[in-house]
Amino acid sequence: MKKTRSIILISGNGSNLDNIASKVTSGFIDMDILMVISDNPTAKGLKIAADHKIPTLIVNTAEGFHDKISKIIDDNSVDLVILAGFMKILPKTITDKYDGMILNIHPSLLPKHKGLNTHHKVIEAGDEYHGASVHYVTSELDDGPVIIQSKFKVEKFDLNLIKEQVHKIEYEIFPIALKWFVDGNISKQNDKFLFNDEVIECPIEHILDY
Ligand code: GRF
Repeated sequence: MKKTRSIILISGNGSNLDNIASKVTSGFIDMDILMVISDNPTAKGLKIAADHKIPTLIVNTAEGFHDKISKIIDDNSVDLVILAGFMKILPKTITDKYDGMILNIHPSLLPKHKGLNTHHKVIEAGDEYHGASVHYVTSELDDGPVIIQSKFKVEKFDLNLIKEQVHKIEYEIFPIALKWFVDGNISKQNDKFLFNDEVIECPIEHILDY
């Protein structure tokens, strides 16, 4: 089987990028990371990419973003676009053209708390549970089919603690979803996803063993 050719888009710290790149190096995810793209020239993740010897590119999302991203994907025969803390909304022209090829990690139990500041929203709502989701990206914000989720009981409404707990979950579920993608287990069909050719009606729940 042809090895999956991926690119990773980031905007900030890049701790998910670091985790994914390590899982590629260890052989857990059998893919090539061709490039890390950041819309933020000072993103810490750029240094992480360099440490993993992954080429980096800074893009200005204000001008001709569709054409730039589209050219990179097409010229490099990219099969998978990974959004790992990419804080800009991809244009509909991109999400439509590359439907089923873009995966995002979102720090909430989707469909709850789409958009920004999810930890604040959980604290404000006094939610009993919080977690993270990996989903296919569509033209609607944080709305594509959710592949995998994991949750924890919110014991303390402490922003930093919650952030840490969510990150820990993200480091478990994102590599699993990416492995399923590159191994050909999952695919997208309209507003659903398939696992080994069977339509899955709700997200797969990853149970934490701690
Ligand atoms: C993660 O919490 C992710 O869910 C959200 O942005 C954050 C990125 O963190 N989309 P990092 O840059 O990977 O450390």
